[in-house]
Amino acid sequence: MLKLLTPLRILLIFCLFIPYKSFPQETNIEEKITNLVSKMTLKEKVGQLSQFAATMNPSLEMIKSGDVGSILSIKDVNSINRFQKTAVEQSRLGIPLIFGYDVIHGYKTTFPVPLASASSWDTSLIKESARIAAMEASLEGIKWTFAPMVDICRDPRWGRIVEGAGEDPFLGSAIGGALVRGFQGDSLNDLLSLAACSKHYVAYGAAEAGREYNTTDISERTLREIYLPPHNAAVDAGAATVMSAFNSLNGIPASANYYTLTEILRNEWGFNGFVVSDWNSVGQLVNHCVAADKIEAAFKGFTAGVDMDMIGDTVEGDIYPLNLPLLVEEGKIPVSRIDESVRRILRIKFKLGLFDHPYTDTVKIKSLMFSQEKRDSTALKLAEESIVLMKNNSGILPLSKELKSIAVIGPLSDDKANLLGPWAVMTESGRVISVLNGINEKFSSTIKINYAKGCDIEGDDTSGFGEAVQAAVNSEVVIFVAGESSSMSGEAGSRTNLNLPGVQELLLKRIYSTGKPVVLVLMNGRPLTINWENENINAILECWFLGDQSGKAIANILTGDYNPSGKLTITFPRSVGQIPIYYNHLNTGRPAIEPGRYISKYLDSPNSPLFPFGFGLSYTTFKFENLNIQKQKQGKQDINVVSVQITNSGTVPGTEIAQLYLHKISSNVSRPVKELKGFRRIFLNPGETKKVYFSITPDLLESYNSDMIKTIEPGKYDVMIGGSSEDVVNGSFEIVN
Ligand code: NOJ
Repeated sequence: MLKLLTPLRILLIFCLFIPYKSFPQETNIEEKITNLVSKMTLKEKVGQLSQFAATMNPSLEMIKSGDVGSILSIKDVNSINRFQKTAVEQSRLGIPLIFGYDVIHGYKTTFPVPLASASSWDTSLIKESARIAAMEASLEGIKWTFAPMVDICRDPRWGRIVEGAGEDPFLGSAIGGALVRGFQGDSLNDLLSLAACSKHYVAYGAAEAGREYNTTDISERTLREIYLPPHNAAVDAGAATVMSAFNSLNGIPASANYYTLTEILRNEWGFNGFVVSDWNSVGQLVNHCVAADKIEAAFKGFTAGVDMDMIGDTVEGDIYPLNLPLLVEEGKIPVSRIDESVRRILRIKFKLGLFDHPYTDTVKIKSLMFSQEKRDSTALKLAEESIVLMKNNSGILPLSKELKSIAVIGPLSDDKANLLGPWAVMTESGRVISVLNGINEKFSSTIKINYAKGCDIEGDDTSGFGEAVQAAVNSEVVIFVAGESSSMSGEAGSRTNLNLPGVQELLLKRIYSTGKPVVLVLMNGRPLTINWENENINAILECWFLGDQSGKAIANILTGDYNPSGKLTITFPRSVGQIPIYYNHLNTGRPAIEPGRYISKYLDSPNSPLFPFGFGLSYTTFKFENLNIQKQKQGKQDINVVSVQITNSGTVPGTEIAQLYLHKISSNVSRPVKELKGFRRIFLNPGETKKVYFSITPDLLESYNSDMIKTIEPGKYDVMIGGSSEDVVNGSFEIVN
């Protein structure tokens, strides 16, 4: 026996028991991974593919045995360091854990919800907000965020519309890419960086009837032109991970979809990070009726391309930990395929520097972070830029400096919780500024503020109406703060009725009948059908959920200290019956241009939205003129440059968001009436004119032809530039063969 223990074998056995880090000679990551994988047992490999939730209390024993690759949703750095110490110092190979969290729109500093910040169209500020969120989360030991959520959505009934950038794939791609760059910084190895996760892959935003977790059935063209591009942009920006979605796509669940997870993501796009399932979405393949049992679910999810199983089934044992070893033993999954997924996960762990600095060095991270002042000012700026002025009759806003009294009424006026949005994580409540706080701070020394809550967000209690009406009667102007609670949107937050909930509209009508001018401040996670409000209320500010600086940002807008510049990234329908409604639709054979019965229209509603994509007013006015197109005729690969003059024709400085749209007039397949292809934020002083240029590069002209091949079609293209999808100056150019 002793003879069998040759020096080489002794060395090999020794190597099996020393933590991974002591192989300094390996310089490149791939070599390190190969070396490490060669030492792992099947059980340890499957451990790397398994993620546990903090709520499941993964035991230190499991971590020691190498059964855990990742933990999600632990909020405190001491627990994280304790778990990590067990993994690194007590497991056989010392492989660090990766800790994930839903850091969606901030961590401690709470930024506007994504649908709000998208309204800023300010990708660099959005990127900075993600950078700050990454810093704050890193300080707590988190190294992986389940963001950005890049689901395009054309259905405001779906509550998760609040988590994305809206309905447009071009803007969604720009914002998705910016968020990835913000979270991941210049290098994943940076102590302040988080690995990003492009989710939910794919077409989750198309959930039928806007019902959460529901089926999607969409054409290959719509998949490729609308739902895939933001994920592609996130992958191009370097997203380390992708999350497979809950929904079924054309009959094949997204978490068992070889076509999207492997053929497109890996083979077409060259993604080399790892795919994590959404919460038990592999286990749910049984409910989707594509797997007879859990072992088949594990087989289908894994072989389709889901590398890591989030949670597995928490009731009867975990999908990957229990079933992958069996599938390997039965010869259904080769070990080499398991190794491939393990390698992907280890690669990200190496890139994040987790092997070199597994513990959170809070002192070092603190020294590198932006100051709280800088974080707050970024949150405030983004909140200001996110607000969309929807209506401003007779210039009621900004409020007159002569006012002596203001009523602040409504269930969200002094609310400090809902305004944070559905994904607020670690906000320090003491730092949250409600609308009432913001108004008090801004005006109280000079103006009498009459506050009354009036009613709740939901429910039918009208007992506060009297006090609210009295507050209005005692004031010169009313700020009415209404909307949804944060739990009415977000995950499992679908609605079929998009009016203001509860008795809010009833109260608003009572206030309106006092004859006092009313400014409606809306807080909500989706477009609402605010027809009566739009017809009757003097001014409307769409404020979404703006985060911890909400009150300050809104007060700055009310006074005109910040001139609103936000533009909608989602169409507001007049009624639920119009849904889906979106600006980049196809024309029909019978468009509703002329009156008549046999045209594409409703009998009981206009086709047009209440507010279109790209819309948003300002306290000044902007004029677009002199559209210039450098080349009237161009070759397919040429770059054309178009320009327009924008003038601030009003009396105060302001920022306009210039939007470029293209439309192919006649094509091999029907093309949308317009498609966003560029945007710029332009600041202008009163009377100032700037020329704004857009380059039309070949990639912007590509579309899928009838054979689903990306082509640039010859022929005439309309060019439209303006401050809204429905208010543009027009021109055209032609592509010659
Ligand atoms: C389920 C959600 O769909 C997903 O977006 C989130 O990242 C995970 N839960 C983890 O919390």
